[in-house]
Amino acid sequence: MAKVISFINYKGGVGKTTTTFHIGCALAMFEPKKKVLLIDADPQTNLTFLCCEFPKWESRVKTNGSLETVYSAYLGKEKKSLRDIIWTKPMTRPELANIDLVPSTIELLDIDLRLQSKTKAATTIQEVAQIHLDQRSILSKAIKEVASNYDYILIDCPPNLYLATQNALYASDGYLVTLMPDHFSTVGVTFLDKKVRQLLRERNLAEQIIDSNNNGEKTLPYFLSFVKVNVTAGKQQNVAKEQMALVRGMSDFTGKCFDSHTEDYKDIREATTEQLPVFLNSPGSQNDVLYRRMAKEFRLKFPQS
Ligand SMILES: Nc1ncnc2c1ncn2[C@@H]1O[C@H](COP(=O)(O)OP(=O)(O)O)[C@@H](O)[C@H]1O
Ligand SMILES: [Mg+2]
Repeated sequence: MAKVISFINYKGGVGKTTTTFHIGCALAMFEPKKKVLLIDADPQTNLTFLCCEFPKWESRVKTNGSLETVYSAYLGKEKKSLRDIIWTKPMTRPELANIDLVPSTIELLDIDLRLQSKTKAATTIQEVAQIHLDQRSILSKAIKEVASNYDYILIDCPPNLYLATQNALYASDGYLVTLMPDHFSTVGVTFLDKKVRQLLRERNLAEQIIDSNNNGEKTLPYFLSFVKVNVTAGKQQNVAKEQMALVRGMSDFTGKCFDSHTEDYKDIREATTEQLPVFLNSPGSQNDVLYRRMAKEFRLKFPQS
């Protein structure tokens, strides 16, 4: 059964997509090779376009749908199985044949509002709890249909914690927060941590309201990983070092930070332009080495049971 991991941060530009893509590619490419499903849950479609060309995506989505199709079915449109939506082997390189994709589209942009607007008037606390769970279990239910086909399912989340991200969290066995070591990110990570814990507590509460025998306090294993660490000698490099040490030293995050990290080098931007992971575009480059290391740690920290 697949291990489902979400890559989250309420901020954009902090390496969520790059890390989802590289960890996914590493799991699929390096021994022991894993079967990986990438789910692009961000309307910006960046992960999708790391995996495929625009014209192919356009015709593919027209005929088979996208992640938005999964939500649309909940909103009353025709239901399509995730099996039909999944794009098998979207990338042409044989090394990446173990990767499948659930593509995204811009239509995901207002999905939170659309899901919210479906909230029916509830008269009992049980109904409120049921609607709460239903609105957040759409992705989880869809994933269950295909989970046995994969070793890992990685979800690239949008830069917020609204319903689409909450659906990803409800479907997940754990999550990874990618973090750039600067002042703002460090302040935000404590807030993010509290917020996600609160969301999971709300799920427990809703489940207990539905089923009073359910006393299980479900929490999710999670880790933080530093990415895009500035290594240009000078003030910014010092800030990066200080901020990493600060977060690693916080009691909330004891044992929660990956030892591995990635650094800010052009190898990533060059690989992105070629729609390839650094492992194939620039073997031996700085982030080739660093992302291999991170993927190894990922396997250890999120073992596939
Ligand atoms: N280690 C890195 N070194 C250099 N550039 C990076 C690195 N990681 C990510 N980037 C670049 O930073 C930008 C934001 O990364 P992205 O993964 O898209 O963030 P997010 O998904 O959180 O918005 C992208 O242009 C990406 O190519
Ligand atoms: Mg992104």
